[in-house]
Amino acid sequence: MAPPANNLLISCILFCCLIAVSEAEAQPSFRPKALILPVTKDPSTLQYLTQINQRTPLVPVKLALDLGGQYLWVDCEQGYVSSSYKPAPCGSAQCSLANSKSCTIACLPSPRPGCNNNTCGLMPENTVVTRTSPSGQFGQDVVSIQSTDGSNPGKIVKVPNFLFTCGATFLLDGLAKGVKGMAGLGRNKISMPSRFSAAFSFHRKFAVCLTAGKGAVFFGDGPYVMLPNIDISKSLIFTPLILNKISTASEGEPSSDYFIGVNSIKINNKIVPLNTTLLKINEDGFGGTKISTVQPHTVLDTSIHKAVIATFAKELSGVPRVAGVRPFELCYNSTAIGSTRVGPAVPQIDLVLQSSNVHWRIFGANSMVQVKNDVICLGFVDGLGFVDGGVNPRTAIVIGGHQVEDNLLQFDLAASRLGFSSSLLSRQTTCSNFNFTSTA
Ligand SMILES: *[C@@H]1O[C@H](CO)[C@@H](O)[C@H](O)[C@H]1NC(C)=O
Ligand SMILES: *[C@@H]1O[C@H](CO)[C@@H](O)[C@H](O)[C@H]1NC(C)=O
Ligand SMILES: *[C@@H]1O[C@H](CO)[C@@H](O)[C@H](O)[C@H]1NC(C)=O
Ligand SMILES: *[C@@H]1O[C@H](CO)[C@@H](O)[C@H](O)[C@H]1NC(C)=O
Repeated sequence: MAPPANNLLISCILFCCLIAVSEAEAQPSFRPKALILPVTKDPSTLQYLTQINQRTPLVPVKLALDLGGQYLWVDCEQGYVSSSYKPAPCGSAQCSLANSKSCTIACLPSPRPGCNNNTCGLMPENTVVTRTSPSGQFGQDVVSIQSTDGSNPGKIVKVPNFLFTCGATFLLDGLAKGVKGMAGLGRNKISMPSRFSAAFSFHRKFAVCLTAGKGAVFFGDGPYVMLPNIDISKSLIFTPLILNKISTASEGEPSSDYFIGVNSIKINNKIVPLNTTLLKINEDGFGGTKISTVQPHTVLDTSIHKAVIATFAKELSGVPRVAGVRPFELCYNSTAIGSTRVGPAVPQIDLVLQSSNVHWRIFGANSMVQVKNDVICLGFVDGLGFVDGGVNPRTAIVIGGHQVEDNLLQFDLAASRLGFSSSLLSRQTTCSNFNFTSTA
């Protein structure tokens, strides 16, 4: 029977039209493909800092970058003034997205951002000093951020209801001067990359390119272009991201940290003898390798540190050693070491990944740290005494900031894989070479 089928078709078309119209109305006229945040390095704390504009009226909010952090949190106790702040009501969709398990029925005496009645809560964490606040209310506010075409910054776009958690003033202890919270980029639904992707329906991907100068975080897919017109997204090596099922921050949830599978370490192509059991994440969530922007240097389990130091020292035995400079153990008189495009001419360190021909190669610029005029040290530290390292470490290898500088890292949350560039210095560019001159 033709007529009913036609009717169905017509109503289908009408229905689709209606949907198309209402979607078009709901969306902002300009839809960015990607967003960009500049990142600088604080010289005294070695923290990587960024800034977003938030609230009504908009104010700049300085944040410490936390790659594995669960979400954006800011201090709401002091100086949070906004007419657009909205708490997340207990039982709301936002609260279930956040997997919140707590609800504040009444927060007295008078309501303010971070202290409202009937609001669900999370436990924001300062991951630099590993301190948490038990009463972080979940909510949303306006955020504005610059869009990008991958080569230059473009129009500024607004997200009216950007989810975040209210932290407390004491949580800022240990963060760089002027910082008001942390920008969590972790692998969960309420992290900043997830929220920006949801707001503008772009790929669940983001990239970080850190450097001693001014680097960047890109939200969304590439291109990621550095001067002189090099699209880094075209030449990445990929490795699976590994999910650690045990979170240190929220009980019963998977970790929001980015783990990769390092199977062995080679120095000058020689295998470093180590206990490979430590390189696997065990059922309690211990072991394995993660990437961190809150550790300025790579932190190794004590036994791995010992083995790496011994092999590296052996491979560089022709160069006079000088006394260690805390927190580093293995130091050299740099006047005896040549220099290359990729830093001091020292043995290369390979993190061997999913197969023997896929490795993350660490050259002198990333392995060595200049501590004095004529002293450079291997920038890997013993986890002993670190909350996240030590003889019985939680995580065997925490790849720190210095080791990822001038390497672009792309995190693909949908495909659960990491794309890495290796040192951009070998391609005659750096992470400070994004052209921040606006075209908008
Ligand atoms: C919050 O709850 C308290 C206790 O029930 C009540 O006295 C107060 O009026 C409530 N505040 C608001 C803004 O609803
Ligand atoms: C390797 O490390 C695991 C985990 O810490 C430990 O149980 C095991 O005894 C170690 N093996 C050796 C040979 O040291
Ligand atoms: C490094 O070597 C140079 C040249 O031999 C020497 O003058 C300098 O004192 C040495 N520095 C250290 C820290 O040993
Ligand atoms: C940076 O971008 C601006 C705007 O597109 C352009 O005018 C300028 O030439 C670029 N700078 C370099 C060094 O390419």
